[in-house]
Amino acid sequence: MRGWNFSAGPAAIPEDVILEVKNELLEFQDSGSSIIEVSHRTDLYTKLAHETKQDFIEILNIPETHEVLFLQGGATHQFSMIPLNFKNISDSADYVVSGTWSKKAAVEAEKLIKVNIIASSENSNYSKFPKYDEWNVSSDSAYIHFCPNETMQGIAIHEAPQFKKHVIADMTSVILSEPLDVGNYSLIYAGAQKNIGPAGLAVVIISKDLMNQANKNLPKILQYSEHSIADSMLNTPPTFAWYVAGKVFKWIKKSGGLKYFQDLNRKKAEILYEFLDSSDFYINKIEKNQRSLMNVTFNLADEQLNESFLNESRSKNLLNLKGHALVGGMRASIYNAMPLEGVKKLVQFMKEFESKHG
Ligand SMILES: Cc1ncc(COP(=O)(O)O)c(C=O)c1O
Repeated sequence: MRGWNFSAGPAAIPEDVILEVKNELLEFQDSGSSIIEVSHRTDLYTKLAHETKQDFIEILNIPETHEVLFLQGGATHQFSMIPLNFKNISDSADYVVSGTWSKKAAVEAEKLIKVNIIASSENSNYSKFPKYDEWNVSSDSAYIHFCPNETMQGIAIHEAPQFKKHVIADMTSVILSEPLDVGNYSLIYAGAQKNIGPAGLAVVIISKDLMNQANKNLPKILQYSEHSIADSMLNTPPTFAWYVAGKVFKWIKKSGGLKYFQDLNRKKAEILYEFLDSSDFYINKIEKNQRSLMNVTFNLADEQLNESFLNESRSKNLLNLKGHALVGGMRASIYNAMPLEGVKKLVQFMKEFESKHG
């Protein structure tokens, strides 16, 4: 029996999508073979790949100024691809450190470019997301990098950035959860394994202007422009992940697009945070307007109950609630594929657990 999956990633995939994949896995559209058995150069596959890209562009309303790439290496690969590509614009880049993922990005970039940490909440253990007016933006850096939704800490910045500079955002755990004005960013990247589809794919939305300024003295596989020329098929792409992502995009469109998910995601997060705020048994210390709508972190006031909480929740089919090992506590990741019902079931369980152990 499938449970309610609160995993941070790889995360829940819409059940309708999994069923569709199951139904056509043996033979795809009278082609005589499974989609994972055909060349990415066949008409069958390129048609599917193109349609997937177009659906993504449509869902996010991506302007013609920007290119969309489907790459490998996950979001982590972007930590190095970004400085490699843009260090010829300037020998320094601005990084905001607001949680574990943006810190990792800055540490990797430091090996390739001079990194200016223009704002950091590391000393306060990432209890606050540095606000835009606190960012000490440099005049001569190549770009600003930040991570608007920190998956491990469950902290987020909800307003869009407005800088007259190339802004680069790691949107791995927030992309497709709400409408987005892509024009505010020169580059957006995301590992697929939350709101896009299975792991193995990373999506990059890059302004053509920035792409054209990039370093051309790199191996092809590291250049955004080469991936663009090759329609993201410079080498064999992760065909299965791309195919499933295509199904997730159709599911998003059919459900009502990003506005629908924005409303649903707000509602889910509201139910969960309202409950957390009403209880002394559970704790979430993040400032109300900086709380992530995707990754809801919380602690039990009595941490000795952690194991019982996880065991009992699992027995109720509420899965993967353990927080990241670096952060501790609990985390309920409630991406698009988590229905409202799953969140209600979680709150119900948490109430019962509190009355039993509180
Ligand atoms: C915000 C963020 N950035 C980067 C990563 C790393 O992604 P990947 O494992 O695809 O490299 C993750 C993974 O969960 C993430 O949540």
